[in-house]
Amino acid sequence: MIKGKFPINKFNEIQTPFYYYDLDVLRKTLEEINTESQKSDFHVHYAMKANVNPSILAVIKDAGLGADCVSGGEVQAALDAGIPASKVVFAGVGKADWEINLGLENDIFCFNAESVPELEVINELAVAKGKTANVALRINPNVDAHTHHYITTGTNENKFGINMEDIDSVVDLIKTLTNVKLIGIHFHIGSQITDMTAFHNLCIRVNELQEQFLAKGVTLKNINVGGGLGINYEHPNHFPIPEFEAFFKVYRDHLNLLPGQTLHFELGRAVVAQCGTLISKVLYVKQGATKKFAILDAGFTDLIRPALYQAFHLIENISSELTTEAYDVVGPICESSDTFAKDFVLNQTKRGDLIALRSAGAYGEIMASQYNLRKLPKAYTSDELK
Ligand code: LLP
Repeated sequence: MIKGKFPINKFNEIQTPFYYYDLDVLRKTLEEINTESQKSDFHVHYAMKANVNPSILAVIKDAGLGADCVSGGEVQAALDAGIPASKVVFAGVGKADWEINLGLENDIFCFNAESVPELEVINELAVAKGKTANVALRINPNVDAHTHHYITTGTNENKFGINMEDIDSVVDLIKTLTNVKLIGIHFHIGSQITDMTAFHNLCIRVNELQEQFLAKGVTLKNINVGGGLGINYEHPNHFPIPEFEAFFKVYRDHLNLLPGQTLHFELGRAVVAQCGTLISKVLYVKQGATKKFAILDAGFTDLIRPALYQAFHLIENISSELTTEAYDVVGPICESSDTFAKDFVLNQTKRGDLIALRSAGAYGEIMASQYNLRKLPKAYTSDELK
């Protein structure tokens, strides 16, 4: 097996578990995003929910991406990182008043509004501040993303967005709201999508909806199609950069933009997943009744994706070159779900070996918890450990 390249000597000096971010991988990924998106003047907002590590945000900001936020905390983190408010979009099905006010005070680019009561509150708060809020309607397009059901967001059974049947009445309502300006429509069908036909289907639906808005006499300045592009969790060493060319091409080829309209994206996972690795140490190797367990010092408090979504992360023993053997790779937390993988083939493993859990840059560190009163994992970058 080809393994990832890591500064193992430096790792040996650091308390595990910790996240390691390869900023060269991140920079290359961003270069590719910019090359492919700028072929058509597409605007990419980084979905902050994937990772808000300050070193990561600094590189993303330098690459010129905007930010997609889903909380006041994320709006603040984007602004603190130096991302201009004019590139900040703010989504979320339950925005609190203080969060809306934060967006208004900073004149963010757009609120992605998800319901009639939310539109009314945004208007009320904007009136109180003497501001006008730019709003895009998040529409539930009822397009199946064919991904894990926990991360499918754009079908009728999900809580997100405004139903297509309600669009006409919502547009009529917005016309009565003095301090809300409808500038666009917004979609997000799900995450870790690897089959491009899901995005193609979204394009078809957006084209239909554009007709509906035109028929209502509404011209939209921008279309935001969300994120969702998946990455290759099985082979991060062979495919460190996601398929941005194919992804943007689907939209270039199939989405009909009107003159002057801009197209916006909210990519999270595809930007940061492959640059991150959770580094952990083997505490014990234990022979069970029928199998061997490699017990790590990292658990689901550090990386919850396998426990929560049955997600696959490639696991490498980066200290061993011995012949291989199958292990259940587990954490120390007092729950059976604290299992990273079953029957996973690793180079023969012993106490003290370093284990890399790959493709953990997105929805890893940010979803960490202190359950069992464990410490939150620290994070280091390749620039720091050079
Ligand atoms: N825009 C909206 C409105 C979203 O809800 C999301 C993700 C994104 C953009 C970014 O999607 P991405 O490009 O990262 O697929 N914790 C889960 C993923 C949850 C995604 C939630 N929404 C996981 O670890 O797989």
